[in-house]
Amino acid sequence: MDMNDRDRPVLTEPRTDMAAASDGNGIAAIDVFCGIGGLSYGLAAAGVDVVAGIDVDGSCRFPFEANMSDAQFIERDVRDITAENLSGLWPEGATRLLAGCAPCQPFSSYRKGVNPSSDGRWELLRELSRLVTETKPEFVTTENVPRIMHKAVFGDFVRMLECLGYSVDIDVCRCTDYGLAQNRRRIVLVASRLGTATVPEGDQYGQPPKTVRQAIGNLAPIEAGRSHEADPVHRSRGLSPLNLKRMMVSKPDGTWRDWPTELRAQCHRRASGAAFKNAYARMGWDKPSPTITTYFHNFGAGRFGHPEQNRTISLREAAILQGFPESYQFVPDGESVPLTTLGRHIGNAVPPPLGEAIGRRFFQNLEQHHE
Ligand SMILES: C[S@@+](CC[C@H](N)C(=O)[O-])C[C@H]1O[C@@H](n2cnc3c(N)ncnc32)[C@H](O)[C@@H]1O
Repeated sequence: MDMNDRDRPVLTEPRTDMAAASDGNGIAAIDVFCGIGGLSYGLAAAGVDVVAGIDVDGSCRFPFEANMSDAQFIERDVRDITAENLSGLWPEGATRLLAGCAPCQPFSSYRKGVNPSSDGRWELLRELSRLVTETKPEFVTTENVPRIMHKAVFGDFVRMLECLGYSVDIDVCRCTDYGLAQNRRRIVLVASRLGTATVPEGDQYGQPPKTVRQAIGNLAPIEAGRSHEADPVHRSRGLSPLNLKRMMVSKPDGTWRDWPTELRAQCHRRASGAAFKNAYARMGWDKPSPTITTYFHNFGAGRFGHPEQNRTISLREAAILQGFPESYQFVPDGESVPLTTLGRHIGNAVPPPLGEAIGRRFFQNLEQHHE
């Protein structure tokens, strides 16, 4: 963490150097809960001027700044961010977008049975709500796991937008429709004060989904626990001797039922564990991957085995399946790659192609408004 950053004031003077955003045709975005920049990178690819990303986790700074050259990373708890802070970041006269994807862990189906209210992050969507209420940006977007739709905090968020006069649209997006080789489903909300908001349909809608082979089939082989010398992010977690044996008898797109009984986990030998067929499994080459979670580097956590190499997928492979370009920089040259931390950030990210589609849709909204 940059020791001085917490004490550094968030900009409070309006920026005047963002000509494109302030000429009425551009959109300037602030991304709260920006993480390593998945959403920001996608928005920027659509032409949005992302002026700042805010996140409490300082380990997001390098990837965010390295790939978002014009945006500043502000390491701050969103609860300490004020409307004045945001107003100082948006260039004067810009069409403002406030983007914010609050942590999804409290709502994830992987945590079924856990009361989200017991988790402090439950309240974080309310912080986005507060910032929208206080700044009333022209555009708002958020993304989360579909289960959030049934939570009071989400209903309150939508009602707040409608009461403020926003047009709001919400849809569950399948990432394969946006060109990803991943079966991820996410709820996307877009809100506009400039005409009717609509969640963008993916441009691959109705097409055969991209496959794991098409996405990562070109990457060089590596061994479990090793990284590629030319790309340290192409690194996979080591396997215990038992898990290596299990991996070696696992079939592409198969299950642990393909293993001899003596290799099966105790829980899988019991009738109650037989349903969990997607743990300790390899992906198939010719279909999309499952949802890339924050634990994709862990063989026991899902269908995260490489289709043919004896290892789980690498950080780079997970990032590509999440729609990051192969060139995305995650760690400074020469520094070690923090597998668990980076794995969490990659699994948490909004796939950039989804962000790009959202950004494009806001531009269409702005154009229609001008017409
Ligand atoms: C779902 S991830 C965001 C992913 C990001 N939008 C992307 O596309 O890469 C949620 C982020 O919220 C951050 N976060 C959690 N609590 C926070 C807080 N109180 N203030 C600011 N950021 C917070 C986490 O560090 C995490 O990076």
